[in-house]
Amino acid sequence: MLAFIGGTGLTRIDALTIVERLEITTEWGAPSAPVVVGELKGEKVLFLARHGDPHVLLPHQVNYRANIAALKQAGATEIVAVNAVGGISADAISGAIVVPDQIIDYTHGRDTTFFDKKDGPVTHVDFSWPFDAGLRARLLAALASVEAPAVSGGCYAATQGPRLETAAEIVRLERDGGTIVGMTGMPEAVLAREIGLPYAMLSLVVNPAAGKVDREITMEEIEAVIHSGMAKVADALIAFVG
Ligand code: HPA
Repeated sequence: MLAFIGGTGLTRIDALTIVERLEITTEWGAPSAPVVVGELKGEKVLFLARHGDPHVLLPHQVNYRANIAALKQAGATEIVAVNAVGGISADAISGAIVVPDQIIDYTHGRDTTFFDKKDGPVTHVDFSWPFDAGLRARLLAALASVEAPAVSGGCYAATQGPRLETAAEIVRLERDGGTIVGMTGMPEAVLAREIGLPYAMLSLVVNPAAGKVDREITMEEIEAVIHSGMAKVADALIAFVG
């Protein structure tokens, strides 16, 4: 079953007919919110609000292990994750929807693995290509079908937050190869890999990254783009199903 993880600005999908809300607990604790079982175009799908519903959890407060484990327990077989990001590269303009193909982790202090159980096996998963190629191709086709301003490929720089970056940090991320910057991509992506679930992202650019324009980044500007941009993301998700 397909599972969606909704981020800032996508706490729910209006077109989803809710069948059930599953209060799941996992050995890693409780997920951010109940896992919603819903129907979209006659297909059963799962939905989880990453930051809770209502939105209360900051990126570093999210229990990513519980979220991914809960989706697996609920029957997920693949995950499409939505997030809001800042744009670093010239093509990552506000309103663009990026389907990244790489990720760099700059977060710290988060629980990043399912494999740190006492006496558990020492396991190192391959993470050369963090996003599932098949899912990415299907997402790009769905974006094209709703004429969304899509960008194929890019490198998601995952920062700790909750503050935005300094201009110098963005220069560094760009030098590293980052094209977009957000706070939730890791460890979510690697946990999906560890648990064996194909995973891909839709990243909506909601602001130019720090220092890319000669002014401060305001929440008002971010919210204005989120509102219209997430409506387009939701259209693409609906097109993606069935
Ligand atoms: N930086 C990090 N995370 C973000 C940004 C940003 O500029 N915009 C939205 N999420």
